[in-house]
Amino acid sequence: MGISGKYYSTGCSVSSGLLPICFCFSFIICFSNSIDIISHTQYIKDPESIVSAGSQFRLGFFSPTNSTDRYVGIWYNNIPEFTVVWVANRQEPLNDSSGTVMIDSNGNLVVLNGRKKVIWSTNVSNTAKSSIAQLSNSGNLILKNGNNNETVWESFLHPSDTFLPTMRLGTALKTGEKQLLTSWEDDSLPLIGRYSASIVPLDIPQIFIWNGSSPHWRSGPWNNRIFIGVPDMHSVYLDGFNLEANPKEGSAYLTFSYVSKPDFMRFVLNSQGKLVEYRWNKRKNDWFVHWSVPNTECDVYGKCGPFGSCNAADSPICSCLKGFTPKSTEEWSMGNWSSGCERRTQLQCQRNSSNGEKEKADGFLALKMMKVPDFADWSAADHEKQCKEQCLNNCSCIAYAFDDNIGCMSWSRNLIDLQKFSNGGVDLYIRLAHSELGAGRNDPKAITTTVVLVVVVVIGTTIMAVFIYFLLRWMATQRGNLLIMILKDIFWSGKKKKKRVLLGEASKELSDIDMLEDRIKQGKSIDLPFFYLEELAIATNNFDAANKLGVGGFGSVYKGKLWGGQEIAVKKLSKSSGQGLEEFKNEVVLISKLQHRNLVRLLGCCTHGEEKMLIYEYMANKSLDALLFDPAKRTLLDWKKRFHIIEGVGRGLLYLHRDSRLKIIHRDLKASNILLDKEMNPKISDFGMARIFGGSQDEENTKRVVGTYGYMSPEYAMEGRFSEKSDVFSYGVLLLEIVSGRRNSSFYLHPDPSNLLGHAWKLWNEEKIWELIDPILGERSSQVEILRCIHVGLLCVQEFAKDRPTMSNIVSMLSCEISTLPAPKQPGFIERQISSDGDSSQNNRSVCSLNSISITMTEGR
Ligand SMILES: *[C@@H]1O[C@H](CO)[C@@H](O)[C@H](O)[C@H]1NC(C)=O
Ligand SMILES: *[C@@H]1O[C@H](CO)[C@@H](O)[C@H](O)[C@H]1NC(C)=O
Ligand SMILES: *[C@@H]1O[C@H](CO)[C@@H](O)[C@H](O)[C@H]1NC(C)=O
Ligand SMILES: *[C@@H]1O[C@H](CO)[C@@H](O)[C@H](O)[C@H]1NC(C)=O
Ligand SMILES: *[C@@H]1O[C@H](CO)[C@@H](O)[C@H](O)[C@H]1NC(C)=O
Ligand SMILES: *[C@@H]1O[C@H](CO)[C@@H](O)[C@H](O)[C@H]1NC(C)=O
Ligand SMILES: *[C@@H]1O[C@H](CO)[C@@H](O)[C@H](O)[C@H]1NC(C)=O
Ligand SMILES: *[C@@H]1O[C@H](CO)[C@@H](O)[C@H](O)[C@H]1NC(C)=O
Ligand SMILES: *[C@@H]1O[C@H](CO)[C@@H](O)[C@H](O)[C@H]1NC(C)=O
Ligand SMILES: *[C@@H]1O[C@H](CO)[C@@H](O)[C@H](O)[C@H]1NC(C)=O
Ligand SMILES: *[C@@H]1O[C@H](CO)[C@@H](O)[C@H](O)[C@H]1NC(C)=O
Repeated sequence: MGISGKYYSTGCSVSSGLLPICFCFSFIICFSNSIDIISHTQYIKDPESIVSAGSQFRLGFFSPTNSTDRYVGIWYNNIPEFTVVWVANRQEPLNDSSGTVMIDSNGNLVVLNGRKKVIWSTNVSNTAKSSIAQLSNSGNLILKNGNNNETVWESFLHPSDTFLPTMRLGTALKTGEKQLLTSWEDDSLPLIGRYSASIVPLDIPQIFIWNGSSPHWRSGPWNNRIFIGVPDMHSVYLDGFNLEANPKEGSAYLTFSYVSKPDFMRFVLNSQGKLVEYRWNKRKNDWFVHWSVPNTECDVYGKCGPFGSCNAADSPICSCLKGFTPKSTEEWSMGNWSSGCERRTQLQCQRNSSNGEKEKADGFLALKMMKVPDFADWSAADHEKQCKEQCLNNCSCIAYAFDDNIGCMSWSRNLIDLQKFSNGGVDLYIRLAHSELGAGRNDPKAITTTVVLVVVVVIGTTIMAVFIYFLLRWMATQRGNLLIMILKDIFWSGKKKKKRVLLGEASKELSDIDMLEDRIKQGKSIDLPFFYLEELAIATNNFDAANKLGVGGFGSVYKGKLWGGQEIAVKKLSKSSGQGLEEFKNEVVLISKLQHRNLVRLLGCCTHGEEKMLIYEYMANKSLDALLFDPAKRTLLDWKKRFHIIEGVGRGLLYLHRDSRLKIIHRDLKASNILLDKEMNPKISDFGMARIFGGSQDEENTKRVVGTYGYMSPEYAMEGRFSEKSDVFSYGVLLLEIVSGRRNSSFYLHPDPSNLLGHAWKLWNEEKIWELIDPILGERSSQVEILRCIHVGLLCVQEFAKDRPTMSNIVSMLSCEISTLPAPKQPGFIERQISSDGDSSQNNRSVCSLNSISITMTEGR
């Protein structure tokens, strides 16, 4: 070890009885070097320490707050808050600063006090004098046998009160291995406290926090994904937890590793018996509580006793399950619920029907969103029905629950530690005598509920009838197909709209467009397949970077493969983009209504907490810009293919502007938004910025200018006015790009017309326009068609929107249905617009020089 001789003399060795002298030239030097090992020849003495190789953690001597005792521990090295994650001599503190940490002659790591007495030891036998203890950058102190490099001991398998990423909490009944988190006695005393946490690997593994030897909190069963008694848990992908269990061996290991790991995080079992997840807040330089249990009184194990159910939202929190009464009404009314409840009517299967009377069979009552009781028995079952039958046929089974991932859970003992959640949990079915299953005759609460329900239904029906009557009357005065659409949409939209219709204010402009916009604003659901996050995580191999297809304006796109083998593209909207949700809803609503072979097809969507994703059909040949602007791949695009793309995009755009039920302005048409399927058919994608127009509306003003410079029409870029003609402008730029094979959009505020449009305009006027054509397109036969496309392109990018042709004209021009084309006028240069505005300094906006990145900005007007 090269470092060893540098700051410690070579005589820095431990020989029996003689305390070696360490030559530490300066305090600073000792602390700034990065020694991460303790070996037989290299030890530390209070207040020295060692630092892990990545300098995340430090091992040394410390005193807890309000204490003078010295302990050997590990803490975070590079955060300002002193946070201990592991303590060696918890049970035996040093009362002065004479302590030493070293490898003893047996090869164990030991802590010695001033009198050379061993006060703590790793106490393993299979090691040798040459062993080395190394502090890893994950905070693990590892003792390796120097002879064979075998790990003989590690602090991660002997935790204190903290659970760190990559650590493992396990129990193996066969080998007796068990990791326990143990709380400190109090915040200034690392002594082992009364609380501990561990995994119980019975049939279905659960995590427990223990208060002494009695359970204090229970996670509920692990279903291969989450603990079903922890309602705010999501999945291994989001929470990072994973549990490997082998019920036959009686072992279970909990590990955790994050998909997107936060910088610093830790779970601590604190001295009050709470398991708290802390994360580091970089900005505030402080820890914050991300999650903790037990959180409410209801989380405390067995709060309501046997057959009692706890609901934190109720007052009192405890109640007996239906069909049960408090065992001791007096205690129960005093708020001492621990005695629990007992069955009111014996189960039919438990009674002896020798007296001949025929009893109706027992049944099950479903309780929704429950934390299931402790002591579940597991049995295999494919579906809930099978589980129910198994339970019904065994009189000792008093409850069951079914979970797709676990199978059948059943209970035969007292039902203890039940909780009703407001979200999460599973359905629990409890067995009751037939007479208890009625409509709750004895329950005044139920009767009130029924009465209220009836009244609500009656009133509701009356209102509906009146409403439909007026609606039909109004319809009688109107005509046209639109009405059917409106009728359909009226039932989606809010009250206000109904009123407007009733009052007869509705005109033909009040089409489904309004309704759609309403729905966008209200974020209502639409008919679209919904994907689970996990499904997508599996399909994309956990959003692996290798599957990334690209990064768009609002997030990344990943390639994935569903179970059935269908290939998909998943657009994961970035959480950081403030516009995310609005654009998301916009796109989902819009595109789910659109059907055209030149528009990319949306297969579904997915929202999960803050995660929002769109699932599209996969386009084998990626986006147009990837081909067109790649010198090597460009050669694959002959004129026939390019013209096919030009036509296809034109038709797609025409559909958006005219042929679909709605008038839609895409607002961000560009080469990277044109995707190509395996037959090279172009499809327009990315409707995140598209806007729906009312039928009579031709232009709209927006304060939020979104889009991509270089494709933006001058009136839109400068004044925020957009119309279908702004899409036409973008289409023109695209057309010229396809013909020239050159990307040239970074021209904002460019002094000379060196951009594509300026260049094309110059060549046009010099009658050398053929110079614009991509030299790869050598075919003479198609020259005329190519020149025609350039001409159309120039018409599209004319400065004034009114001069530009409409999409339907463009499609006709391209297909030669319109044979004579007008001469193009000057293209819209943004430079000119600025100079005509006079004062350019007032028009300073964020200038984006990146070519194809969508930018969004708010106009400061
Ligand atoms: C330390 O002592 C002060 C004063 O007695 C007290 O306010 C504080 O809570 C103590 N801190 C800890 C961690 O015990
Ligand atoms: C420290 O503890 C030892 C016993 O472990 C005791 O003999 C010694 O006097 C103590 N020193 C102080 C300063 O309390
Ligand atoms: C060391 O381990 C042995 C058994 O392996 C045990 O008997 C002994 O008490 C332990 N000593 C300490 C100090 O933990
Ligand atoms: C132990 O491992 C280290 C690095 O992992 C290596 O340099 C060393 O040679 C190994 N020693 C033995 C005895 O295998
Ligand atoms: C733990 O158990 C003790 C003794 O039974 C009790 O006094 C204490 O309140 C319990 N702790 C909690 C947090 O319930
Ligand atoms: C609650 O009731 C149990 C018996 O059911 C009794 O042992 C316990 O002392 C009571 N607790 C309180 C706080 O009254
Ligand atoms: C009911 O049957 C059980 C066994 O099934 C028996 O032990 C019990 O004595 C019987 N009770 C009566 C009242 O017949
Ligand atoms: C009925 O259930 C109990 C408890 O789950 C179990 O021990 C017993 O074997 C079951 N009986 C039958 C016939 O399945
Ligand atoms: C387009 O995709 C198909 C199928 O993946 C492939 O055979 C073809 O070569 C691709 N074309 C280009 C130009 O990349
Ligand atoms: C734009 O293209 C023209 C010719 O096609 C070229 O001279 C000019 O440098 C390009 N400008 C940018 C900013 O790429
Ligand atoms: C606009 O930009 C110019 C040059 O970058 C700068 O001198 C001027 O102060 C800016 N004006 C405003 C209003 O930000």
